[in-house]
Amino acid sequence: MLDKARVAVLVSGGGTNLQAIIDAEKSGVIKSGEVVLVVSNNKDAYALERAKTNGIETAVMLRSDYGSRAEFCDALGDFLEEKKIDLIVLAGFMCILTKGFTDRFTERIINVHPSLIPSFCGEGFYGLKVHEEALKYGVKVSGATVHFANEVPDGGRIIFQKAVDVLEGDTPEILQKRIMEQAEWILLPRAVEKISAEIVEKRS
Ligand code: GAR
Repeated sequence: MLDKARVAVLVSGGGTNLQAIIDAEKSGVIKSGEVVLVVSNNKDAYALERAKTNGIETAVMLRSDYGSRAEFCDALGDFLEEKKIDLIVLAGFMCILTKGFTDRFTERIINVHPSLIPSFCGEGFYGLKVHEEALKYGVKVSGATVHFANEVPDGGRIIFQKAVDVLEGDTPEILQKRIMEQAEWILLPRAVEKISAEIVEKRS
């Protein structure tokens, strides 16, 4: 068996997508990659507890400890390189990355976004806000997208996408939960496996 891809998951909040990845590793859906590191830009993120419970190394890096976004992203990139990370997964990481950062890890960063890109995406569209806007617009179908991250927020090449129905009476919270359950928690682990397998294959 070839060495697995070393995966780092970047988080800011609850970490249900991180949990889906951890569960997929345990169940064998992810077999080509291993989550070796979880980095949070929020020291109170519950995602950190999930990582610790599963024996995964954690780190907290605060934007406020750095003079600029570029300095923060440079330090984050240095740290990920130091840890020899092959694949970076943005799983609810609420921080816009610089071009310097995305260029350093071309096609090595994937992101999950809770809408069908190119709808309801880009700067300012994150978390519940995405679902509020989708409901305000009145769309009947929303969903989730997993894509490579580049310098354009939510702009990189799409890997997987899945549509989810919007139902009468949905609140942003109800829609968020349905999209997580029916799309995000399925697509993101599958994408981690797909890209990890490609990384491992390229090495051989
Ligand atoms: C998820 O719905 C994710 O798609 C979204 O934040 C939530 C994080 O939840 N990400 C974005 O909006 C990024 N633009 P989690 O911490 O429970 O995984």
